[in-house]
Amino acid sequence: MTKPSVLVTRRWPEAVEAQLKRDYDVTLNKADRPLTPSEFREAFGRFDAVLPTVTDTINAEALDVTAPQVKILGNYGVGYSHICEPAARDLSLTVTNTPDVLSECTADIAMTLLLMVARRAGEGEREVRSGRWTGWRPTHLVGTKVSGKTLGIVGFGRIGREMARRAHFGFGMTILVQNRSRIAPEILAQFGAEQVDSIDDMLPRCDFVSLHCPGGATNRHLINGRRLDQMKPGAFLINTARGEVINEHDLVQALTFGTIGGAALDVFDGEPRISPDLLQCDNLVMLPHLGSATREAREAMGFRVLDNLSDFFAGRDPRDRVI
Ligand code: DGY
Repeated sequence: MTKPSVLVTRRWPEAVEAQLKRDYDVTLNKADRPLTPSEFREAFGRFDAVLPTVTDTINAEALDVTAPQVKILGNYGVGYSHICEPAARDLSLTVTNTPDVLSECTADIAMTLLLMVARRAGEGEREVRSGRWTGWRPTHLVGTKVSGKTLGIVGFGRIGREMARRAHFGFGMTILVQNRSRIAPEILAQFGAEQVDSIDDMLPRCDFVSLHCPGGATNRHLINGRRLDQMKPGAFLINTARGEVINEHDLVQALTFGTIGGAALDVFDGEPRISPDLLQCDNLVMLPHLGSATREAREAMGFRVLDNLSDFFAGRDPRDRVI
């Protein structure tokens, strides 16, 4: 029996690539360079499955093909707002993602960012490395206490809940939750959390706000100047979701004029390009999209794509089907 043909758009962990080679007629992207829309169109005509990730813009232009060979996009990652949903539906493509296996590691990075910005760890590290540190003193790089404060979580899916677990049980934080749908009381009770009706109700009550909602057009600029103004003076904003959820121009204003205490970002609008204005803000911590970047999570994400593919090619509905 001929094996299905599969294109992997970026390098994946070795163990997963080895398994892919055993199970499929696989083409790997040895150069690890993102494909262009025309390369995607060509691939959709040649492969049974394409395995993209967040750095691949699979927009309407890339999906502008007739009678494609491709039947499934097995996305490596939980977020899939880089895939144009209406165009994928028009072509009757199946799209899968990789939930669960990265939730703990992404929440770990969100907590890392929260602690870094509150305790001015980025500023301190820059000072030590540049040789500017003159020694301990009572007024040096004084930050904000984290334990016992109030954390607002926007989007209470798997990653939001892992963040709540860390903040509540590790740091005794009070948890407020804003989510599109109602969360069952027994789930909220696990974290001593309260669900609020709207983000506008939540922001004025929080010392920290952490974003865990999907990206894409619906949530583009959910956090804008008006909402940043609703945050407490001195509060902190953390984003491990998608860059477009924050209006970065408005964030720069809030950071520059000190209307909030600081921000910490793992994701950026139009990444890997970083707005030069963000680079000027000292009260901002920035990481290069490291949320799921552990050996364990990255391997598990790959094996989860393999599970979805084997279900699909065996005629079963893949467990992580999102389209
Ligand atoms: C995710 O899983 O969505 C991560 O951001 C990487 O794509």
